[in-house]
Amino acid sequence: MIKIEKVSKKYRSGKVWINALHNVSLNIKEGEFVLFKGPSGSGKSTMLNIIGCLTRVSSGVFLLDNEKVSHWPDHFLSSIRTKKIGFIFQQFNLITGYSALENVALPLLPLGISRNIRMKKAFGLLEKLHIETRADFMAQELSGGQQQLVAIARALINDPKIILADEPISNIDSRHAENLINILTELKKEGKTIIATSHIQSGIDRLADRSFNFKDGAIC
Ligand SMILES: Nc1ncnc2c1ncn2[C@@H]1O[C@H](COP(=O)(O)OP(=O)(O)O)[C@@H](O)[C@H]1O
Ligand SMILES: [Mg+2]
Repeated sequence: MIKIEKVSKKYRSGKVWINALHNVSLNIKEGEFVLFKGPSGSGKSTMLNIIGCLTRVSSGVFLLDNEKVSHWPDHFLSSIRTKKIGFIFQQFNLITGYSALENVALPLLPLGISRNIRMKKAFGLLEKLHIETRADFMAQELSGGQQQLVAIARALINDPKIILADEPISNIDSRHAENLINILTELKKEGKTIIATSHIQSGIDRLADRSFNFKDGAIC
């Protein structure tokens, strides 16, 4: 389902170019749970951002469902994100000044669904993740673990078949980490394709069907 062929990614930082990924190839099948491992700075997030259609390859090919996404214009990328991808960001990226419920409902906004239905669907997901009592809390009033649950609900609202989670256990305590593992286990059972990154050993290791070890922008 996901095919990465000889992908490189360069970032420009002032006058220097940084090779975040160099000639990386990998395949991921539908329903697989894959872990990107490796030290900080090894290119894991960059690869996740490419698969999540948040950033483009500098060279090489990225195929999603046999479509050459790497060669598509930006507005197509955002429609793929809406249709197929749920992204759980490392820093959760909730929008302050909006409630938990509004944050979860946000991805439905471009789809022309009525506010009533958007809020109902969002509340249903908060219930599924047992955080509905915080529905009316502002994003900034939530603890780290609660923010992550809201971020997971937001990632699931479009019923994406691919779920990407960048360092999902790095910014939460051990109790929430256990809860997170249970949620990921459920999503795996539901047949979702899941890709997570981690720079440390964790409970996610035993959930993963396969791991890729990143080092200096390559898989080793
Ligand atoms: N937006 C960016 N601009 C410049 N350099 C970046 C950017 N994002 C990542 N990098 C660099 O690319 C390399 C890989 O980063 P990243 O993919 O975030 O690694 P990891 O997720 O494994 O920690 C690092 O050297 C990092 O500093
Ligand atoms: Mg990272």
